[in-house]
Formats: sequence, C-alpha cells, structure tokens
Amino acid sequence: MTDRTIGYIVGSISSTSLNRRLAKALERLAPEGTTLVEIPIADLPFYSPDHDADYPQVARDFKQAIDDVDGVIIVTPEYSRSIPGVLKNALDWAARPYGEGSFNGTPTAIIGTSGGPISTAAAQQHLKTILSHMNAPTLGQPEGYIQAAPGLFAEDGEVADEGTAAFLVGYLEAFGALIDRYAPARETVAA
Ligand code: FNR
Repeated sequence: MTDRTIGYIVGSISSTSLNRRLAKALERLAPEGTTLVEIPIADLPFYSPDHDADYPQVARDFKQAIDDVDGVIIVTPEYSRSIPGVLKNALDWAARPYGEGSFNGTPTAIIGTSGGPISTAAAQQHLKTILSHMNAPTLGQPEGYIQAAPGLFAEDGEVADEGTAAFLVGYLEAFGALIDRYAPARETVAA
C-alpha cells in the first residue's frame, strides 16, 4: 500500500468546534500509512480579485499546502443550510488566480457534523457543486453525515460510539481508494 498524506480543512473557526473534534478523531483513526494534516484557513483575509496579481504569503501558503497533499477532506458545519462564509472564502482563494485553481484534479471528500436531524446534508450538497465546478473529484460514497448526538465524543476526543468510529474508518479507506485511483493523473499534471 502506498503512503498517503491527506490534508483537512475545518470549515469552522469556533473555539469549541464540534467539526474540529471530528477532524481530530479522523486524524487518530487514519489507517496505517495515512497521515492527516490540517490546512488552516483562519488567518486568510477576505478574498478579492485585487490580490490576484500578488497573492499575500498566507494565501500562497494555503495553496501550497493543498498542492503538497494527496487529497483533501473538508470537515464542515452547516450554516443557514449552506457552508460557512469562512470556508467559502478559503475556497475562493484556492480557485484563483484564474487558471491556477488548487483543487483542479485534487481528490476531495466532504464530512460534517451538526445536531440537526439532517446533519450537514444541505451544506454538503452546496459544497459538492462548488468542488465540481473546481474540477475536483469528490468521494460520492459513503456520505459523511454525522449527527452530533450527546456522547458522540468521549472526554479524550475519541469517538465514543463504536458504530460511528467504524464508519469513519471505512470512510477514510474509501477516500484512500479514490486518491489512489486519481494518483497517476495527478503525477502526470505535476510532471
Ligand atoms: C448553525 N447551525 C446549523 N445547524 C444545522 O444543522 N443547519 C443549519 O443550517 C445551521 N445553521 C447555523 C447557522 C449559524 C450562523 C450557526 C452559528 C449555527 C448549528 C451548527 O450546526 C452548530 O452550531 C455546530 O456546532 C457548528 O459547528 P462547529 O462550529 O461546532 O464545528
């Protein structure tokens, strides 16, 4: 099996973010040979096309971090039945300058948690549309709708519910398989 490095973006900058806890849980559940690293977005300023001629260092670092990994998981809450503005802002930085979209050909997976009965399904649907426009292959199954029931996470951050933990392991394995499927195409682009 090939070693993989998967980046993850947390679509919440809340200091008490449940989605960050979910991302940390995924980090711990990663199969052998797979490393998860965060791609931070909190310090990105608001995107404007005025920056296209000379991206600030923080945005260059953000785009480089996406280039440096084999795939990206976006772990996001749902805000008002869509994705949070901070996440959309980050995706807009990634999309530009024109012709240099960071997600072009980058395998992606989406997962998220909220207390609502449909979890983050509406936000994820919008995110799939955005990633499709960016030409990012996206994991279709399994779908990562994690309902944040009380007791989902143990005190130490582990996923307390065994069924959910097993689901997350399978989710990471499925994303690994998607990454492997697209790896030859990505190597050709990089060469
Ligand atoms: C929410 N929340 C929410 N939940 C949901 O399931 N569907 C929704 O449309 C919304 N909308 C929404 C808007 C705004 C502005 C806030 C602040 C919250 C609740 C949300 O899922 C909950 O606060 C999560 O805990 C947010 O994720 P993090 O920040 O804990 O990762």
